[in-house]
Amino acid sequence: EANMIVLGVESSCDETGLALYDTERGLLAHALHSQIAMHQEYGGVVPELASRDHIRRALPLLTEVLTKSDVDKQAIDAIAYTQGPGLAGALLVGASVACGLGMALDKPVLGVHHLEGHLLSPLLASKPPEFPFIALLVSGGHTQLMRVDGVGRYQLLGETLDDAAGEAFDKSAKLLGLSYPGGPAISRMAEFGDPAAYQFPRPMLHSKDLNFSFSGLKTAVLTVVKNHPANICEQDKANIARGFVDAIVAVLTAKCVTAMKESGLKRLVIAGGVGANLQLRASLNAAAAKKRFQVYYPELEFCTDNGAMIAFAGAMRLKNNPGLATRDYGFNV
Ligand code: KG4
Ligand code: ZN
Repeated sequence: EANMIVLGVESSCDETGLALYDTERGLLAHALHSQIAMHQEYGGVVPELASRDHIRRALPLLTEVLTKSDVDKQAIDAIAYTQGPGLAGALLVGASVACGLGMALDKPVLGVHHLEGHLLSPLLASKPPEFPFIALLVSGGHTQLMRVDGVGRYQLLGETLDDAAGEAFDKSAKLLGLSYPGGPAISRMAEFGDPAAYQFPRPMLHSKDLNFSFSGLKTAVLTVVKNHPANICEQDKANIARGFVDAIVAVLTAKCVTAMKESGLKRLVIAGGVGANLQLRASLNAAAAKKRFQVYYPELEFCTDNGAMIAFAGAMRLKNNPGLATRDYGFNV
């Protein structure tokens, strides 16, 4: 069976990512431009600015991965792009780049689901998990527990009924005056907080299902901040951050433990931006040691949005079914 080189294009939100994945040699190169600094002064992603920046970055990043990998663009066998979900204008840029390139090079294209990219990203690590496994997908837009039996064989076990985990991190951080995206910042701040200072609710901890709810936790943080005298001191901010992080980590860990127990599987995979969170990793590692299962994480750089996961997911799809890629360049996003 011949090898295949897949170009991946990610542009669903505020990161432009391109990558080349070879089904025999693995990841050949990847390049990323994050727009975080650009959106920071607005306190969140501004869709119009995001689209414009993807346009500016996409082709220079393509040149970068071709140069880094020393691959000629004619050697690309197929192009995978993020089809959705995401910001419409931002997605259109990636789809247009992929389809335009496909047409120019006479190569087939394939739309990839953004969450499938995240879900499979831990398989890019040096010691990838085998199927089947339970996956916790925790990003800025989604929080899901899935059973994964193979590429394309996914069963949703539970999900958030309101905010996503990353959204809860970002919104609570904003309430503490931290800049966008607040996840990493509130997590760092929590390290200096007193765990006994604030006890926040642990929503749905004892619900019998595998669903989550985080909007009540965010409201609890809001209430504390509102009732606090003006000018919360740094130590008190750290205490609130600690209370928040401990609560969300406790819920995420407990639901993973339940999913492992109910499924009887021994491998848990974490994917998505919040998977970069060190308190979550420490808590899951402790639970795994106690309950005797294995936890797998993507490389830190592949937790948040990137092109490598899209190239990889596209390559895995095409390996199983080469006919999935098309030369019909009228795309859907
Ligand atoms: O997967 P991702 O890059 O984008 C989506 O598909 O949504 O996830 C971004 C989210 C943001 O909410 C960000 O605050 C959160 O992941 N995040 C973190 C950390 N790093 C990124 N949250 C907590 N701790 C972190 N270290
Ligand atoms: Zn994402």
